[in-house]
Amino acid sequence: MPSISFSEKNNGKNPVLLPVFSDEFSAEKRKIFRGLSPLQKRALRTALKNAKFPPTGFVPVFSGKDAPVFVQILGKKAEVARRDVRENAASVASFFKKYAFDAILILPGSLDKKGESAFSEGVIFGSYEFSGFFGKKTIDAEKESGAKIPSQFVFWGKTQSARQKELEAIAEGIALTKDIINTPPSIARPSFVEEQARGIAKKPGVSLTVFGKKDLEKMNCGGILAVGRASREEPRLLVLEYRGGKKSEKPIVLVGKGVTFDTGGHNIKGRYMRWMKQDLGGAATVLGAFSAAAALGIPKNFIAVIPTVENMVSPDAYFPDDVLRMYNGMTVEVDNTDAEGRLILADALAYADDKLNPRAMVDLATLTGACIYAVGDDFTAGLSTNPKLFSALKKSSETVDEPLWELPLHARYAKSLKSAIADIVNCSDGIKPGTIEGGLFLQNFVKKETPWCHLDIASVAFDEKVGLATGRDVRLLVDFVKNF
Ligand code: BES
Ligand code: ZN
Ligand code: ZN
Repeated sequence: MPSISFSEKNNGKNPVLLPVFSDEFSAEKRKIFRGLSPLQKRALRTALKNAKFPPTGFVPVFSGKDAPVFVQILGKKAEVARRDVRENAASVASFFKKYAFDAILILPGSLDKKGESAFSEGVIFGSYEFSGFFGKKTIDAEKESGAKIPSQFVFWGKTQSARQKELEAIAEGIALTKDIINTPPSIARPSFVEEQARGIAKKPGVSLTVFGKKDLEKMNCGGILAVGRASREEPRLLVLEYRGGKKSEKPIVLVGKGVTFDTGGHNIKGRYMRWMKQDLGGAATVLGAFSAAAALGIPKNFIAVIPTVENMVSPDAYFPDDVLRMYNGMTVEVDNTDAEGRLILADALAYADDKLNPRAMVDLATLTGACIYAVGDDFTAGLSTNPKLFSALKKSSETVDEPLWELPLHARYAKSLKSAIADIVNCSDGIKPGTIEGGLFLQNFVKKETPWCHLDIASVAFDEKVGLATGRDVRLLVDFVKNF
């Protein structure tokens, strides 16, 4: 991760990045020149006089003895939202990779304070690389080319140590989330998820409890045990606690689905098995956000609860038609072994609700393929029993530009979960709103009086076109924990 610093000096030594709206090049908009050295200013003025700049993209301007200025044209001011500014900035690190500069000075250009802040986030979060699995040939070729992303970004302005700390903590959290999701599934097994939690537990104020198979048997976590039964690794329930608030203050509880790979079990997935390493996305997002919130020392009590299993096929695997007895005493008939996420979350939610006295509970899960049909690939789907809690999450979503949309958690769709021999079934094939059905199933495992929200992130956690995790909703959770 590149380092961050602030400066109000430009000695002309470091290459400069200048973000500018395409309609702000005219002479009266001189403020875009602020921070440039005299030589750089002159070179840019000359370039503007003599050349037509494109509507978007990077344009290098050479200024003789001083380092070059890279103008990043963001598009027309009126058409560029804060989120677009952040997304534009996310391409900065990879753009500069080929130049192999060490430090880049980033000037405000056209950006106001809020724009600058979004831009710096984009630059830092966009510097993430997942390179541990390339082979020698690729690594050697890269070394030979000398390409590397800048190791330092210097932002224009007075030193802001709180802001710097925040950016670094969140960048680390997002990188942790992405690393956990991107890691291949033969490595990222339940023991790997436990190791990640152990790493976070080294931070001051954090403690970890690990429940293994024996403990889960005593606790009657029939869902976690059944789904994890065919794996060569034991299932686990991980509980990470941070106590930054008053002793008497009830904690915020974040629960994350940690299916390290989802084959579907006996209801095996066909061609949609590809990318199912992402099925620990909820766990990864909760771990990344927890890690960032703990690093920031947010003065609240918050707890992460992570059930983690591998959903496999073996002679030992659980069957469709099985009946499971869950932590809260309810019985569940298995309609489909591929609706496994809700089974492990059911135990985790019921455990947390029973033992942790939550002020609010939010679970994140790559729960349903239907989610992407419901809200598309830009929204997280939220289902909640508590309007106040949902609006707090929605507010965070708007603050950080990570879109969230509410779906109806309406009882009229709950009929499909009726079973002839158990309290409920885990799913039905007859119902179209599968994301709602998932939420309604989980609702059975949360007390009425506990404010709860289920976030289905199957739509957003992973970018299949790119083949990498997105890190979505880490920032949303950190903002939520900070402000709720
Ligand atoms: N992990 C999947 C959901 C999923 C699909 C996540 C695509 C990310 C991308 C989940 O366990 C699953 O298989 N759900 C089933 C539920 C059905 C059997 C009721 C689904 O969506 O088809
Ligand atoms: Zn599944
Ligand atoms: Zn799954």
